[in-house]
Amino acid sequence: MPIITEKEAIQILRGGDVVAVPTETVYGLAGLITSQSALRKIFETKQRPFFDPLIVHVLDLAGAKDLVLSVAPVLRELAEQFWPGPLTLVLPKSGKIDDVITAGLPTVALRSPRHEIARRILAECGPFAAPSANRFGKTSPTTALDVLEELDVPVVDGGPCDVGLESTVVALNDGFLEILRPGRVLHSDLFPIAKRYSLQVRSTVSGASPGHLRHHYQPEVPLVLLRTPISEPQLREKIASQLNKSSFVLQYLQLPSEPFAAARVLYTELRRLSRNRDNIIVANTTTFGWKTDSTDLMDRLSRAATIVF
Ligand code: TXA
Ligand code: MG
Repeated sequence: MPIITEKEAIQILRGGDVVAVPTETVYGLAGLITSQSALRKIFETKQRPFFDPLIVHVLDLAGAKDLVLSVAPVLRELAEQFWPGPLTLVLPKSGKIDDVITAGLPTVALRSPRHEIARRILAECGPFAAPSANRFGKTSPTTALDVLEELDVPVVDGGPCDVGLESTVVALNDGFLEILRPGRVLHSDLFPIAKRYSLQVRSTVSGASPGHLRHHYQPEVPLVLLRTPISEPQLREKIASQLNKSSFVLQYLQLPSEPFAAARVLYTELRRLSRNRDNIIVANTTTFGWKTDSTDLMDRLSRAATIVF
């Protein structure tokens, strides 16, 4: 499938089909929320189970007015502060949101992307649903070429993604501001606003966000997550026995020591190290040296891992 122009993407979307579009986090597989056929095709194309709800992308909160029943003041303030940007808000949905989008949940996840191509498409076509443009469970694409490697869909090339990791997903649950999926909008970014509303910020692990499964983001070759240092001969022996493999090449994942820079290149590196199918990627977390919040990076690495030592 080809690289297409923004104008072509708009025509395809209006025609009830899907296209991959750049956002600042990762590339998304977009379909208009008014098109049943596009929504179904998103799930088919990604081989995504119907229990995994989609994020609806909007220009701003005003543009989302009809899609939700209400917006709690704390979430409104978060939108004012972080939109457009890598923050997704879970809100009570209105009747305008199809059950296919939300997997039957009474809530809808909304995000206003910052990438100018995504924004121009939203301005022309209205809200679109878009999961990351990868096969279900695989590494999200951060360039147009990554998308073409993952899926047989047309894509608009908007360059490499600036953030590089999926958005932070938050919900207001049981009196907590809950982080359902960590991202580059950090706990420390949410905390001051939550505090003003006398709310605590709670991070909820695996399972809280439907579809945010234990195994996700998996590269094409095994990834070994090392939490404690171990000698290379020992590591080789353990891998050989656990993966039942005798010949392989260990590739140590190297990432910048600044978490924003690391997030930007993580998926590109996982893809690069997966090109040779004899490789096994070793992510030695003791070598990364991240001094500020890296919960999102560790979350993606542990879900991408085949084995953890
Ligand atoms: O950065 C991103 O969020 C990217 C770009 C394309 O915008 N999109 C993305 O979509 O990562 P996807 O489908 O790969 O991840 C959507 C996440 C899933 O973990 C899903 O469970 C959660 O959002 N989600 C969607 N609707 C939800 C809801 N109503 N309640 C709780 N979680 C929800
Ligand atoms: Mg995804």
